[in-house]
Amino acid sequence: MLKFAQPQLDEDTIQAVAAVLRSNWIATGPNVTELERALSESFSGRPSRVLTSATGAMEIALQVCGIGPGDEVITSAQSFFSAMNMIVKVGATPVFVDCELHTRAIDLAQVEAAITPRTKAIMPTHFPGALGDIDALYALAKRHQLRVIEDAALVQGSYWKDQPVGGFGDIATFSFHPNKNMTTIEGGAIVVASEDEAKLVDLLRFHGIKRLPDDTRDVAVAAGKFNMSDVSAVIGVHQLKQLPRFLVQRAALVERYFEKFPPVPGVVLPPQGVPRQSWNMFNVLIPYEQFGHTRKSFRAALQEQGVGTGMSYEACHLTTVGRGYGYTDGQFPIAERIARETVTLPLHASMTAEDVDHVCAVVAQILKA
Ligand SMILES: Cc1ncc(COP(=O)(O)O)c(C=O)c1O
Repeated sequence: MLKFAQPQLDEDTIQAVAAVLRSNWIATGPNVTELERALSESFSGRPSRVLTSATGAMEIALQVCGIGPGDEVITSAQSFFSAMNMIVKVGATPVFVDCELHTRAIDLAQVEAAITPRTKAIMPTHFPGALGDIDALYALAKRHQLRVIEDAALVQGSYWKDQPVGGFGDIATFSFHPNKNMTTIEGGAIVVASEDEAKLVDLLRFHGIKRLPDDTRDVAVAAGKFNMSDVSAVIGVHQLKQLPRFLVQRAALVERYFEKFPPVPGVVLPPQGVPRQSWNMFNVLIPYEQFGHTRKSFRAALQEQGVGTGMSYEACHLTTVGRGYGYTDGQFPIAERIARETVTLPLHASMTAEDVDHVCAVVAQILKA
């Protein structure tokens, strides 16, 4: 069975985990410090912190920006559910807009039209293969004095011009879930705009605790608990060293997909040829009905032939939570089309070119049949 995503954990990493377990220091410790140092280096020296998930990082990002009840945050209808959920969780209102078809980047004209006096931030999601126009995004944010929280869960290692995502801009969050470009089992990171904001993250990720001069503790803000264990962090330290190799491997597999994907009418492939993009997923849009299929039957046919698939993503505004804010079908046609037609084909650093050829042959056969 070819899984659509899987982590690659080598023997050195497994040995390093065993060493941490034997050290008896398994909660937050020196490996968290080392992972944060190495991540910050990869993000052009910007203040970086690790957390238990990207979702937690997004919640903390909103809190760092002081966003809460009465505030609006503009986000894409086409994304994973984390942005919507965390906006709601901090008490703010999610304001959805549509995205672009190929890049899936948030539609900046619609963002601008959605700005009200209550808007505090834009929360775009970046997709593999091409970022949106980042210069235009930040120019827009600057014009309207808005914070930007980039959901960069899928694009660790992608570049905008000469700068890595996370290495510039305002706030960015990353995921280290096993399906992502590198893993800490569960985990995530936040890159913030200043050392003061990083100190606020330290507070917000661990009960809001501040140490007082007399050795007792104060709770400065009522906060949750999002600190990463050293067991997870040591995996991250090893994964981050291997990330460049993982990304080269993923990019080569994507090249092969572009070469071998059957010429099916109506199919939309991801953006091709943009330099220095990381490839977490290979998402394809297929008009299943034209081939006598539903997405469910298409995915089942692939599964029968040993090919696992994923689905990224449903349209956020049409979830029960989204509809609760008054959103309805047909409002964001591109996000909704992606939600109907998308399928994620296998892509991970343990795959071979022959695996890609096999997936493409099976897709061709199913759509022909
Ligand atoms: C675009 C995007 N953002 C955020 C997340 C949340 O990541 P995590 O599972 O680390 O909370 C995911 C996870 O799949 C994602 O795909």
